[in-house]
Amino acid sequence: MSDVAIVGAGYVGVPLAQVFAEARVSTVLVDVDAGRIAALNEGESYIEDVPSDQLRPLVESGAISATTDYDALRDADAILVALPTPLSVNREPDLSIVLGAVEEIAKRLRPGHLVVLESTTYPGTTREEVLPLLAATGLQVGTDFHLAFSPERVDPGRTDWTTKTTPKIVGGITDGCKAAACALYERAMDRVIAVSSPEAAELTKLLENIFRSVNIALVNELAQLCDRMGVDVWEVVDAAATKPFGFMSFKPGPGLGGHCLPVDPFYLSWKAREYDFYTEFIELAGKINENMPYFCLDKITRALNSVEKSVKGSTVHLVGVSYKADVGDLRESPALKLVELLRDEGAHVSYHDPHIPALPEYGLESASLDGALESADCVAIVTAHSGIDYDGLADRARLVVDFRNATGANGSLNGRVWKL
Ligand SMILES: NC(=O)c1ccc[n+]([C@@H]2O[C@H](COP(=O)([O-])OP(=O)(O)OC[C@H]3O[C@@H](n4cnc5c(N)ncnc54)[C@H](O)[C@@H]3O)[C@@H](O)[C@H]2O)c1
Repeated sequence: MSDVAIVGAGYVGVPLAQVFAEARVSTVLVDVDAGRIAALNEGESYIEDVPSDQLRPLVESGAISATTDYDALRDADAILVALPTPLSVNREPDLSIVLGAVEEIAKRLRPGHLVVLESTTYPGTTREEVLPLLAATGLQVGTDFHLAFSPERVDPGRTDWTTKTTPKIVGGITDGCKAAACALYERAMDRVIAVSSPEAAELTKLLENIFRSVNIALVNELAQLCDRMGVDVWEVVDAAATKPFGFMSFKPGPGLGGHCLPVDPFYLSWKAREYDFYTEFIELAGKINENMPYFCLDKITRALNSVEKSVKGSTVHLVGVSYKADVGDLRESPALKLVELLRDEGAHVSYHDPHIPALPEYGLESASLDGALESADCVAIVTAHSGIDYDGLADRARLVVDFRNATGANGSLNGRVWKL
């Protein structure tokens, strides 16, 4: 018996379960991955934002449990769906995981149930895709059961704003659905903000991600121009950020990663085509951001050329391969694209990442940084994890290409350091 069932025990589901459990809302996590379920029931977390020492007491007290059995949904008052929403090979929305799960939910739907979709998706998904599957049971939305959309806004690794403290947006199919979903989240979250419809809630989440994608593309484009002009883009961005109003600082880098930014905006551009509408900012930002690993290859090529070496036959050691600092998330990481591009050109690639012990699909294991500093022809800083001595790295390596400004001003004083 639990108050809430969360389908999908990943980066979103596990922190959500913790927030509910700590608010004395008992929670069951339902996932198809038996290994993950076994770990959770041992109180062992594989999600960095929820350390095992915080999870274990919640599991031991029974506030959090985990199962692969969808029948656990029957006893819960609310069912939250936090499942992946990837793109297909043709870069179109792939809702098969979510809709497959909704079919399982429909088999267990009963009067009184509240169902909330938390997965990022295009406007219309809750009403046009999820509702018909649940309504086919004969139960009436708004009277027999409630249905809402509430986007998860978690930023893994972030500590100043968390699942609990980040305001929760809620849009219901009916006013009753909205009220039921708000009442649930108000039991655990600091602030709940209702919007008029699931579509508004779905689009809110996409706007947030598109805003980031477009602004990162803007500085990535500027970085490429600065490279030609011989201007330090990092200095320009930092100087602009001193303006107390009207500017928000975004940093350039080797490209977008993670489950959200490289994927979610295209959910909206796909849906927009149904309305004869082309979302040009989204496409342009995608084009610029996807080109960044190619630009990084070009920069490494020129850096090696400056010391009379070719990429072919050179050893290039990547520092940091997860998609952002201090997390072990590899999804869509631009470092993986860079490994492929460098290998295509004949480079010998090695890497160091304290959060990623191995890249089995590339036949690589994280190698010691010390050894690489002596032997690599080029060290490329792709993701700047904390705890690494970047000044020491800049001093000791033969050649450094720094895509994150980790070496800062020290790097630019050293002729062997090339910056993005
Ligand atoms: N990761 C983020 O930073 C983040 C932030 C905000 C929103 N989101 C959105 O939240 C959603 C979930 O993302 P995530 O990062 O938590 O994904 P994830 O890959 O970390 O976790 C998804 C979990 O679902 C499980 N699963 C897959 N199919 C299943 C099924 N049929 N039944 C039950 N479990 C199943 C997987 O085993 C996995 O444990 C996505 O739509 C994503 O865009 C993610």
